[in-house]
Amino acid sequence: MSELLNVQDVAKYFGGIKAVDGVSFTLNEGEIVGLIGPNGSGKTTLINVISGVYKPDRGRIIFEGEDITGMDPWDIFHKGIVRSFQIPRLFHKMLVVENVMVPHRNQRGENPLIAPFHSMWKPQEEELARTTLGTIMDFQLSRVRRNWASELSGGQMKLVEMTRSLMSEPKLLLLDEPVAGVAPKLAREIFSHIVRLRNEYDLTFLIIEHRLDLLFDYVERVMVMNYGKIIYDGDPEGVHKDPKVIEAYLGE
Ligand SMILES: Nc1ncnc2c1ncn2[C@@H]1O[C@H](COP(=O)(O)OP(=O)(O)OP(=O)(O)O)[C@@H](O)[C@H]1O
Ligand SMILES: [Mg+2]
Repeated sequence: MSELLNVQDVAKYFGGIKAVDGVSFTLNEGEIVGLIGPNGSGKTTLINVISGVYKPDRGRIIFEGEDITGMDPWDIFHKGIVRSFQIPRLFHKMLVVENVMVPHRNQRGENPLIAPFHSMWKPQEEELARTTLGTIMDFQLSRVRRNWASELSGGQMKLVEMTRSLMSEPKLLLLDEPVAGVAPKLAREIFSHIVRLRNEYDLTFLIIEHRLDLLFDYVERVMVMNYGKIIYDGDPEGVHKDPKVIEAYLGE
């Protein structure tokens, strides 16, 4: 397995809060890695730093051998790192942010604010959608594609978000609670799709998820954050037995 992402001693502080405090790890191509940890432990901030939303106060981020530290989100996106967002609170604001993320990496000319759902149904994208997403598209999104701006459920929004992430032909997907608010059965279907995508396209995933029983059925590696640091990096079986992890969760 070749190394895709190398995070070296990355830190991000908000005033006195050490949201990410010296994090180092590597992701190999084709890995599916779970990122867990108590609320406020720095998971979302870590994804924000990798995807360029925040510039790190310290450390380096290497993607495919290239130093991407401090690059703008748009440029990082075009390198093939795509992130999804945690539960949207401001729906309209969310849309703007996501619309920007939608076009294919190689189609910069398109107006990102118009592109989203029209482009989805053009042949090229439709082909992509069919082959890569299969049922996600069919059984959920085709139904809401005309009225999606008004009333999507949390689960539907997550599906839209995931679908869009994949439309851009990413290499690394950073998913922030992709199945939060999604019923268990559908959540499992989505995770099965993720595994299939990895198998078919060699995509790499870093996935934040709070439901460990669910997550652990699909990932082969788990990183645990606590107070901005990674306190565990290993197989899911070892997580429950690790004293530091137990303490982190009990002390929540
Ligand atoms: N923009 C910000 N400004 C100030 N503090 C922030 C900001 N973003 C995050 N923080 C703080 O940084 C810490 C880490 O937050 P973060 O959202 O990364 O945690 P998390 O692990 O994703 O939590 P959760 O599981 O609840 O989503 C928290 O103390 C949070 O309050
Ligand atoms: Mg978070």
